[in-house]
Amino acid sequence: MDAVRERSIERSLDNDASAAMVTLEDVCKDYRRGNVTVPVLRGVTLRVEAGECCVIMGPSGSGKSTLLNLLAGLDTATSGAMCLGGRSVRHLSDADWTRYRREWIGMVFQAFHLVPGLTAADNVGLPLRLRRMSAAHIRTRVGEALEQVGMTNRAAHRPWELSGGEQQRVALARALVHRPRLLLADEPTGNLDAHTAQEIIELIRRAARADARTVLLVTHSDAAARVADRVYELRDGRLHLRPSRLAVRPATATTDADDGATAAAAVTAADDATAAVTAAGGHEPL
Ligand SMILES: Nc1ncnc2c1ncn2[C@@H]1O[C@H](COP(=O)(O)OP(=O)(O)O)[C@@H](O)[C@H]1O
Ligand SMILES: [Mg+2]
Repeated sequence: MDAVRERSIERSLDNDASAAMVTLEDVCKDYRRGNVTVPVLRGVTLRVEAGECCVIMGPSGSGKSTLLNLLAGLDTATSGAMCLGGRSVRHLSDADWTRYRREWIGMVFQAFHLVPGLTAADNVGLPLRLRRMSAAHIRTRVGEALEQVGMTNRAAHRPWELSGGEQQRVALARALVHRPRLLLADEPTGNLDAHTAQEIIELIRRAARADARTVLLVTHSDAAARVADRVYELRDGRLHLRPSRLAVRPATATTDADDGATAAAAVTAADDATAAVTAAGGHEPL
């Protein structure tokens, strides 16, 4: 797509009063290594309305994390138009993106990325500390978020004292505590057994419904596919809409896909602390 057409699409999207939460038009992303160009996204077009829950599936290496990273401003598209909340992101500066992440976006990852030395409550409070909220206000909001994920009685526990499922609940509370409009979840069930995975998926879905929050959820879990408004498969660099939920295996089938097979596709964060701060909506390590 040429630059003139990209700008014309963005302008028309900017003027759309009933703007979707996420609009991608022909988004491409190449990675370059020396002389070699690796096309990962080859024309992704997607419209997600406010309050919708979209699941994205696809084989390891198909570009799912790349797509979420573009939406979080952690990476930049090679070409194509992208609008969030009806506004083009083309001219956002790094500082704008940091602000946008803090205000609008919550992120959950496969590897939880909790800060090991902090209690569950302090982990959940991180995004609010980055926003310089008062201590009393933070306490109230953290209490609400922990309650939302059923972790009130674990507030004082450190991550190593919690099971994987409990750590992911805390990570989810941290992603929701600042009431983001967009929740991006990158294989949040990848390290969990099928039963725990289903619990996390249901929590994500419930949390989204409660506040008309938009959710983009990358997962292999059929449990997620069953509760989603739409299910896409990312294949050959493009999103393919699954025709209907009937295409998903029935609820009685074992949901065994959330096992080590997805572990290889974990977040490529440099270290836990940095990733945790990014997850908390920040830009720099504390
Ligand atoms: N920073 C990067 N530099 C070069 N190649 C990358 C980078 N990030 C991802 N890739 C490549 O892009 C492809 C898609 O990766 P990714 O989005 O992580 O896939 P998925 O999340 O679907 O497993 C892979 O081939 C991966 O090696
Ligand atoms: Mg991935």
